[in-house]
Amino acid sequence: MKNSRFPEGFLWGGATAANQLEGAYNEGGKGLSIFDMVTFVPKDKRGNNIEMDVKSEQELEELLAGKGGDNFPKRRGIDFYHRYKEDIALFAEMGFKTFRLSISWPRIFPNGDDHEPNEEGLAFYDKVFDELLKYDIEPLVTLSHYEMPLHLVQKYNGWTDRRLVDFFVHYAETVFNRYKNKVKYWLTFNEINVSTFSPYIGSGILVDRVEHKEQAIYQALHHQFVASARAVKACHEIIPDSKIGCMLARMEVYPETCSPDDVLAALEEDQKNLFFTDVQVRGYYPSYMLSYFEKNNIHIHMLPGDEEILLQHPVDFLSFSYYMSMVASGSPDKEKEKGNFFSGIKNPYLETSDWGWQIDPKGLRITLKKMYDRYQVPLFIVENGLGAYDKVEEDGSINDDYRIEYLRAHIDQMGEAIVDGVEIMGYTSWGCIDLISAGTSEMSKRYGFIYVDQDDYGNGTLERRKKKSFDWYKQVIATNGAQL
Ligand code: BG6
Repeated sequence: MKNSRFPEGFLWGGATAANQLEGAYNEGGKGLSIFDMVTFVPKDKRGNNIEMDVKSEQELEELLAGKGGDNFPKRRGIDFYHRYKEDIALFAEMGFKTFRLSISWPRIFPNGDDHEPNEEGLAFYDKVFDELLKYDIEPLVTLSHYEMPLHLVQKYNGWTDRRLVDFFVHYAETVFNRYKNKVKYWLTFNEINVSTFSPYIGSGILVDRVEHKEQAIYQALHHQFVASARAVKACHEIIPDSKIGCMLARMEVYPETCSPDDVLAALEEDQKNLFFTDVQVRGYYPSYMLSYFEKNNIHIHMLPGDEEILLQHPVDFLSFSYYMSMVASGSPDKEKEKGNFFSGIKNPYLETSDWGWQIDPKGLRITLKKMYDRYQVPLFIVENGLGAYDKVEEDGSINDDYRIEYLRAHIDQMGEAIVDGVEIMGYTSWGCIDLISAGTSEMSKRYGFIYVDQDDYGNGTLERRKKKSFDWYKQVIATNGAQL
């Protein structure tokens, strides 16, 4: 057998989030979360667009009054809340070394500003962590993955309000103390950069309540940076042998051509993405961003001590999701062929998924090299995968060769990056079991090695079934990535 490029102890596994997985949205004393309010919009009405944000107070009121639709897929998830034992047994069968999940903040603090935690919520995660540890699967826990308690939106307009820092730190300390003997790997905010294009999901902001949208978003982000750094501090104090990281939705940006205008545009677009990790890993605001704030009339209100806390408590490692790369042009007015989901420009060298995401395995290697060069802290790929339609054959099999091909190519490039000298802690593929899509609330956009029998409307038996990729990934893990 070929020698493995992956270090011993490499953390292979899968990733999920409570709001897309658990269901049981109103059981066990849980409060409503922001994603509990997002309804399913069929593809013919939304195209490839994401539909995550509630934008106004009126819209929220209508949803709460039951007038804004009745299909809330994230409320039902895939019923992990009741089926976690069966699901974890399947992860163990694949040989997972780690499993990424999030704690639903409103399961622990139903309103977010409560003083006392909800014991039933805490007890649920005790059972889940115990089950994982039974199989030697290391939990990797995200503190906040689009699950802020809805009450914090209603009363405070989310992270625009400074008081959220204390609420979040209280929540973080509570779970660090409770699970200190069970969980060693933590992440603070999932895809912290998502707020710039989705302020409700990223920061709990109803945009109709603010005057200057960008100002509100960056102020909210400042509060999240401070909360994250305080959580890092608390984590190190409460669990000395822990590692805690940040999490970025990474999008490598290429220039459309070698014209210096395009190269500059790509560089500036990339800075907008790397800004978040610059703050969380280096511990201070980069000068290019201070200049951007000035040009755009954005004034970040900081309290004395904020800069010190950012500087003194950077993260231990940098984690990120990677699904696609982007292309930037120095002539934005030029009519561009719509090609990729996030940027308007098509990369003619890449294939596109059914949802318009441009597939770029080599981009993963490029981005790993770039980020390791820039930060020199361990990297962790905590999301990567292919959202696709799967077909159950008459004999019950699901032959997802396209998924195997996607993952194989990305894992291979990750291996090459390791050979190039990049330090990588692990790899957790996104949605290792089919779950509700974050962006579109579809069930039919599937990422898993395990099929879940449920459609976009909640019909189905919820039966779990192994796909072809299940045995493939099992072999990847068993050979520590030598056999792809
Ligand atoms: C990331 C999120 O943006 O991408 C996940 O952290 C999400 O929550 C994943 O599910 C894939 O996106 P989508 O929209 O296909 O579910």
